[in-house]
Amino acid sequence: MEVLFQYLDQYPMMRNFVFLLGSLYVLKIMVWLIPLMWGDVKAYLLSGLFHMDMKFSQYKWAVVTGASDGIGKQYAIALAKFGVNVVLISRSEDKLKAVEKEILDQCNMLVKIVVADFSEGANIYDHIRMELSGLEVGILINNVAACYDYPEYFLEIPSERLQQIVTINTASVVMMTKIILPVMLERKKGIIVNVSSIGSTFPLPLYTVYSATKKYIDYFTASLQYEYSNRGVIIQHLQPSTVATKMLGIEQTSFTVLSPKKYVRDAISTIGIQDRSFGTLAHALQGWIFKILPEWFLMPFIFKAEINMKREAIRKLQQKQ
Ligand SMILES: NC(=O)c1ccc[n+]([C@@H]2O[C@H](COP(=O)([O-])OP(=O)(O)OC[C@H]3O[C@@H](n4cnc5c(N)ncnc54)[C@H](OP(=O)(O)O)[C@@H]3O)[C@@H](O)[C@H]2O)c1
Repeated sequence: MEVLFQYLDQYPMMRNFVFLLGSLYVLKIMVWLIPLMWGDVKAYLLSGLFHMDMKFSQYKWAVVTGASDGIGKQYAIALAKFGVNVVLISRSEDKLKAVEKEILDQCNMLVKIVVADFSEGANIYDHIRMELSGLEVGILINNVAACYDYPEYFLEIPSERLQQIVTINTASVVMMTKIILPVMLERKKGIIVNVSSIGSTFPLPLYTVYSATKKYIDYFTASLQYEYSNRGVIIQHLQPSTVATKMLGIEQTSFTVLSPKKYVRDAISTIGIQDRSFGTLAHALQGWIFKILPEWFLMPFIFKAEINMKREAIRKLQQKQ
C-alpha cells in the first residue's frame, strides 16, 4: 500500500484519476445503497410509523404451499390468527392434519387441506384448481421448495432429483400464480408472497440448481410486479437467509438463524412495505454484506464454506452408517 501511495505521489495526474475513480465508485454505492437501506430502515426500525396496518382479515382465504412444516406452516398459522381462512397444500396428509388441528386449537377459522405433490408437475394443477374453485382467495404464499440434502457438485446429483427440484421450486410458483392471480385481479386486491432465498442474490456453488431456481423466482416476481402491482395486488419477493427448519436440518437458533415462527412474525409485517424483502433485520444485514462486497471477493469464501459443509455432512453420514 505504501509503495502505491509513493507511486501516486510522484504522478499527481494518476493520483487525481484514482481519486476520481474512487469517488465515482463511492457515489455509485451511495446512490444504490441509500434507497435499499431506507427500505430496510422503514421495514425493521420504523415499522411502527410506516406500517400500513395491513388488514389481513379483509381477505377471506389464503393459500399456502408447503404448509405442513417450517416457514409455510408458520405463515398458515399467522394468517389464521389474523382472521384469514387457510388452504394448506403439501404432500403429507397426516402432517397437514396436525397443522389443521394446531390452527383450530388456536383460532376459529376455516381450514382446507389439499394433498398434492408439486414434483409431479403439470398433472396436479387441475386437481388444485378444482379444490380452490369457489373460494375467494386473497392471499397466496408460494413457499414450497426442495433442496439437496447437503452441498453437492452438480454432476453428483441424479437427474431425476434435479428435475424434481426445478419443477417444485419454479413451476409451483408459476402455476399457483396463474390459478389465483385472476381471482385477485377481479377483486382488485390481493397479496402474493414468493419465497426465494438470500441465495438468489449471489451464486451458490454446490447448491447450483437450487440457487438457480431461486434466481428464477427473483426475476419472475420482479417482472410480475411491473405487470400487475398497479392493479391492487401486492407482490412480494421474500429472501430468507438461514431459518431453523428441516430443509437445512438446523434446530439451533441464534441472532442470524431464526426459528420459523419468529422469522414469519417479522416477515409478515414487511408485506406492503417492501416489494423485495429479507424478512427480518438480521437477514437484511447479511443481505447488505452480500450486496456491497464484490462477487470476486465474496465467492471464494462462500465456495470454501460450502466445500467444508459438504465434508462435514459426508462425515456425519459415514458416522451414522
Ligand atoms: N430454511 C431456510 O434456511 C431457508 C432459507 C432460504 C430460503 N428458504 C425457503 O423457504 C421456503 C420454505 O422452506 P422451509 O425451510 O420452511 O422448508 P421445510 O421446513 O423443509 O418445509 C418444506 C415444506 O414443503 C413441503 N413439500 C416439500 N416437497 C414437496 C412437494 N414435492 N410437494 C408438496 N409439498 C412439498 C413439505 O411438506 P411435505 O413433506 O409434507 O410435503 C413442507 O411443508 C422454501 O422456499 C425455501 O427455499 C428456506
